[in-house]
Amino acid sequence: MTDSPDKEETVICSCTGTSKEKIEQLIEKGVDDLDKISSATGANTGCGSCDILILELIAKQKQ
Ligand code: FES
Repeated sequence: MTDSPDKEETVICSCTGTSKEKIEQLIEKGVDDLDKISSATGANTGCGSCDILILELIAKQKQ
């Protein structure tokens, strides 16, 4: 499998390398709280500084 170089990914959680796209996909599927996203992706299990970014994504999609 090859990664296409033109598909840019924004990393939300640099500790675990979790991308914005990955989190948005989960939110679309109804995984719309920080704990659930954490357990699904590992995001926010390191330094914890990405929680605000994840919460922002959740808030944005709920609008
Ligand atoms: S950046 Fe997500 S836990 Fe550190």
